[in-house]
Order: sequence, then structure tokens, then C-alpha cells
Amino acid sequence: MTTSDAFISIRSVSKFFGGFRAIDDVSLDIGQGEFFSLLGASGCGKTTLLRMLAGFESTSSGEIFIDGQPMSEVPPHRRPVNMVFQSYAIFPHLNVQDNIAYGLRKQKLPVARRLEMVEEMLDLIKLSGYGSRKANELSGGQRQRIALARALILRPKVLLLDEPLGALDKQLREQMQLELRALQRQVGITFVFVTHDQEEALTLSDRIAVMSGGRVLQVDTPAGLYEMPKTREVASFIGNMNFFRGTVRRNGSAMAAVETEGLGTIPIPVEQITKPDGAPVQVALRPEKFALSATRPDGTLAVEGRLRTAAYLGERSHFYVSIEGKAEPVAVSTPNISRGLDRADSQSGQALWLSWSPDAIVILDTD
Ligand SMILES: Nc1ncnc2c1ncn2[C@@H]1O[C@H](COP(=O)(O)OP(=O)(O)OP(=O)(O)O)[C@@H](O)[C@H]1O
Ligand SMILES: [Mg+2]
Repeated sequence: MTTSDAFISIRSVSKFFGGFRAIDDVSLDIGQGEFFSLLGASGCGKTTLLRMLAGFESTSSGEIFIDGQPMSEVPPHRRPVNMVFQSYAIFPHLNVQDNIAYGLRKQKLPVARRLEMVEEMLDLIKLSGYGSRKANELSGGQRQRIALARALILRPKVLLLDEPLGALDKQLREQMQLELRALQRQVGITFVFVTHDQEEALTLSDRIAVMSGGRVLQVDTPAGLYEMPKTREVASFIGNMNFFRGTVRRNGSAMAAVETEGLGTIPIPVEQITKPDGAPVQVALRPEKFALSATRPDGTLAVEGRLRTAAYLGERSHFYVSIEGKAEPVAVSTPNISRGLDRADSQSGQALWLSWSPDAIVILDTD
């Protein structure tokens, strides 16, 4: 995305709390109608960035533009944004209808129009017929949907969501994730969504910014982040990853190679390697990119190993395999397509072959 078609543009923004830098020179462009997530560990600055978008917190330096307008002089209630918080901030003493209509009370709308808008919202969040229920007679998921409806009824151009599903149990959370995504598509509002749950970010987002220590490490689509992480930090934050030390070998031909600790010499097309001959790199390979076999597979890259431990997890099995030249065992994850009972009682110490396809490999800078 280019800055010119960005709906939200965060330009070199930093935030200090006293001498502590909570946000460190962040620049991000978010498109209109995008479901954009901020993902990172606790304390990395997600809420702080969201609060600066909402105007609850000022920027120490840099500028935020929304819909082309600089926001530094614009107070929260004049920004085209609304925020939904982690704990469902709805009023327990008001019924569902009054909770949803709460933000409309300052607008002088005819009663009939207001009721009509509330009905539309109830329909959208699949709670038609619940209008006169008391908020404390609702489940957690239903309350969170009311909180969403209350924000959406004001038709903000941007909805800021700070871990809105954090308080829900796993099953309800997964159901609400699907509903939230469908709802966002339906209303077409830009969502900026905060989570520390990588699976949630992958499921919901068009794009994700991975944050750490107040900085943005990488911005990409879910598949882009998972398949082509740019650094070891991003690669290990999203999913599991095996790392192998390697050295670049170039001989002037179209194929270069990386000589690795453990996986042997892997041919890599020259255009995929920016480093010079002899440069140290890291080769990264996800556990599910390996295949296991009892004998050496034909025509593919393979290395022999010994099984250390195996765990049967139902839909898949996990294996830790020792290979020569690498201290830590390699993590391998295979789907249990057949019943896999033979795998379930794999013996520790058993010899087996690991194979992989060259295009599964990610080459990272050493850090
Ligand atoms: N008002 C404040 N005064 C001082 N420090 C603050 C303030 N607000 C946040 N911080 C600090 O800034 C850092 C970022 O906080 P923030 O709340 O943005 O993290 P977060 O990524 O949302 O974390 P979590 O996932 O735990 O909600 C933290 O180290 C926090 O202690
Ligand atoms: Mg937070």
C-alpha cells in the first residue's frame, strides 16, 4: 500500500512516558475497509498506539493522519473513530436497546428512527428480540456483541478494538472471531484490532503488524508473515520454527547454495540470496514442512535422524528428531491422514529420514 491510498497513516510516531519510550518511531499505513491487527507480547505498546489513534493519548513526536487529516489538534470525540475495550463496557442497569442507543442520546433523532437503528444493529449482531433484556441477563459473548453494536451504531469510519475477545473462553472466542470477521466485511468499516494471540490475528486479519518493544518488526498478510518472516524474532513469534546455522556458497552459476549445520548443502536460486559468498545466514524451516519416512526418499533433499520423542495429538503428531551436526533436536509435525497408529507408538532411538522441499526454506539474516 502507498501512503496516498492509506486511510490511516501513522508517520514516525513515538511516545514517551517520562523517560520510557513506549512507542519507538512507528510508521504504518492502513487502508480503508482493512482488517488490520497489531500483534505482540504484553507491554509491547499495542494499547498505547491504539489510544493515540483514538486521541486518548497524545503523540510525543510524529503525526497521525486519518482520512487525510492530521489528528494532533483533534480531540477524541471529533475523530472519526470509536473504541471497543477488552472488558465489555456496557451498562448493567440498562436494557440491551438502551445500551446500544446510548451514544445516540446527544443526537436529536426522532424516537422511531432511533428504534429502527437499534433494530438494524440487533439484526446485525444476531440478537433480534433481545432489546428489552437486562444486560446482566446476557452471556459474555452476547455482551461483547452489544458492546460492538454500541460502537457501530455511531457509524465510525474506524473501529479500534483492544483485545475485545480476551475475556471469552476458547470456544466462544473462536465463534466470535468468525462473527467479527463477517460483521466487518458486512459493514466495510476499517478495523484496527489489538491482540497478543497469534492464531487470532492470523484468522481475522487482512494484514498484521508484529510489534516488539515499541517497534514494528514486520507488516504483512497472515500468509506472508508465516511463510516469509524477515527476522528470527518474527519467525519464532508466529508459529514454531526450526533454525539452522548456514553459510552462503556462490560459484557464479544460477544456483547458489547454503551449507548448513545439520541439513547438508541446500541449493538455492541465486536471486533468493542477497548475501555474498561466505556470509553467515540462518536457514529456517517450519515443523510441518518436513516429511518423515522409514527409508531414504527418492529425488528430494533428505537427512537421516534418530527419533527422540513422539507425541500423538489427535489431528497431528509431533516428533523431535536428532540429526548429526545440530545440538537441538528438529521439531517435526505431521498430519495424521491415516490413523497413524504406527506413528503413535514410534520408538525412541528409531532411525528415520527427514525430507523437505527447497521452496519451504526461509533464509534469514543472522542476528
Ligand atoms: N500511562 C502510562 N504511564 C507509564 N507507562 C505506561 C503508561 N501506559 C503504558 N505504559 C507502559 O508502556 C508500555 C506499553 O504499554 P501498553 O499498554 O501499550 O502495552 P500492550 O502491548 O497493550 O500490553 P498488553 O498486551 O499487556 O495489554 C508498557 O511497558 C507500559 O508499562
Ligand atoms: Mg494492552
